[in-house]
Amino acid sequence: MTDYKLPNNALSGKVILVTGAGDGIGKQAAINYAKYGATVILLGRTTEKLEQVYDEIESAGGPQPAIIPLNLLHLSEEQAHQIAETIEQEFGRLDGLLHNASTLGEMTPIANYPVETWLNVMQVNVNSAFVLTQALLPVLRNADKASIVFTSSGVGNKGRAYWGAYSVSKFATEGFAQVLADELENTNVRVNVINPGATRTKMRAKAYPAEDSNQLKTPDTLMPLYTYLMSDESLEVKGERFNG
Ligand SMILES: NC(=O)c1ccc[n+]([C@@H]2O[C@H](COP(=O)([O-])OP(=O)(O)OC[C@H]3O[C@@H](n4cnc5c(N)ncnc54)[C@H](OP(=O)(O)O)[C@@H]3O)[C@@H](O)[C@H]2O)c1
Repeated sequence: MTDYKLPNNALSGKVILVTGAGDGIGKQAAINYAKYGATVILLGRTTEKLEQVYDEIESAGGPQPAIIPLNLLHLSEEQAHQIAETIEQEFGRLDGLLHNASTLGEMTPIANYPVETWLNVMQVNVNSAFVLTQALLPVLRNADKASIVFTSSGVGNKGRAYWGAYSVSKFATEGFAQVLADELENTNVRVNVINPGATRTKMRAKAYPAEDSNQLKTPDTLMPLYTYLMSDESLEVKGERFNG
């Protein structure tokens, strides 16, 4: 999938929301979706980072993006519905939703895992994705062909010592994606999962501080897969899990 070639207008006319769009893989995905013609809604918690991505997209001549500064740790049901309402008013529909934002929590044994951190990781990585997805389903149903992509991890289907809440949250993400994919099987909304694999980002550096990051792939190498799953080329692809 890394050398998958898509036409330059593969996402033309599509409206795609990316969570965690200010940094790492989400930033690259947002820039890349715009490059292929999508109007991107940049959701993240650090406004300056979102503004940088916005500027980068604008100066590259992409469609004008939108920014939603939001800390998913505090996302309420009401806020999620407000986001859906705004998208409905502005665009009438949502064609793509990339659930990318996540927090690593602590790398520590379960015996010592801080309860508050555990709850926060579950809130950001799982609960907020549920609340946001539920609120956005009607606008996704308004699209002709919509795609939801969840982001898992190598520890999302095989547990590993010290990965604690992050690993468990990714198992939950995969479970959620499977339930949703099955429920939406005969609708216009398809659901798939990407495990990006080891990628050069701040999260990876936090998990592996001693590693030489120059040996890792960069987020841009994942983009053929990320773009494919948002494009109409993947219309028949449902309930699948991809490794980046
Ligand atoms: N990198 C890897 O090797 C790897 C491997 C497997 C899976 N993944 C998955 O890939 C996805 C992207 O990871 P990454 O490596 O690109 O991580 P990253 O560089 O840390 O970027 C994560 C992004 O999510 C945002 N975010 C975190 N917590 C948030 C919150 N509470 N509310 C709103 N936004 C929040 C961050 O915002 P700020 O910039 O403001 O902090 C950041 O923009 C994640 O789901 C991760 O689990 C990554």
